[in-house]
Amino acid sequence: MPDPTVADAAAGWADLHLHVLPGIDDGARDLQASLEMCRGLADLGYRRLIATPHADGRRHTYGPDRIQALCGEVQTALTAEGIPIELGWGAEYAYGDRFHQDLTGAGLITLGNSRYILLELPEQFMPATMPQVLFEVGTAGYFPIIAHPERCEPFHDNLDRLLQIAGGRAIIQVSFRSLAGTFGRTIKKTAWRLVEDGHAELLATDCHSPKELKKIVRPVLKALHRKVSADRLDRMLRRTPHRMLSEIR
Ligand SMILES: [Fe+2]
Repeated sequence: MPDPTVADAAAGWADLHLHVLPGIDDGARDLQASLEMCRGLADLGYRRLIATPHADGRRHTYGPDRIQALCGEVQTALTAEGIPIELGWGAEYAYGDRFHQDLTGAGLITLGNSRYILLELPEQFMPATMPQVLFEVGTAGYFPIIAHPERCEPFHDNLDRLLQIAGGRAIIQVSFRSLAGTFGRTIKKTAWRLVEDGHAELLATDCHSPKELKKIVRPVLKALHRKVSADRLDRMLRRTPHRMLSEIR
């Protein structure tokens, strides 16, 4: 029998990128913070969250077993507290050695067991091999989502470069933190342009702490309601992420 608290998951919003697992990266500090984040997001209309702790070859070297175990602990606590969130897991890969190792070795950690993976590109330069790498990711049966490309300097005065790299090979996901201005005016402007010009297919809170609910998530949602049609917002926050989660590799 389905859990009645999450039975309406598909009717609510889904976030494919946030740091909600306790004590694993620079996200939620402890279980209380995890639950506070989930409760706040549920109040706003979210029903499905995919925890995406950082994955790289330096500080965040844990594998899928640890992420899955933590996710299970938080889901148990969510159910016990009656918080209507279905929690899944994935990872936010940094472009680099660890990403390449997983791609060519044990396999990439995907979002909620779908075929989608979350990849963060270097912010200062764009490797010339990027189109080829995205092609290889596709050949291996995955589909990449580019996390907050608005934070990549090479795209700031050349959005066409991003659109060429992503075109048909990757999905553009803009972050609430960029839209709120957390990283300065240029990134904020680029983020809003990607949303308003229709290039962003997904929006992610990339939430790291319950404090961001009031400081970032609520004000950005308010601005989105003002600037984007209700249908487009529903597509970016609900229909598209749920569809992606249903596409198993
Ligand atoms: Fe992130």
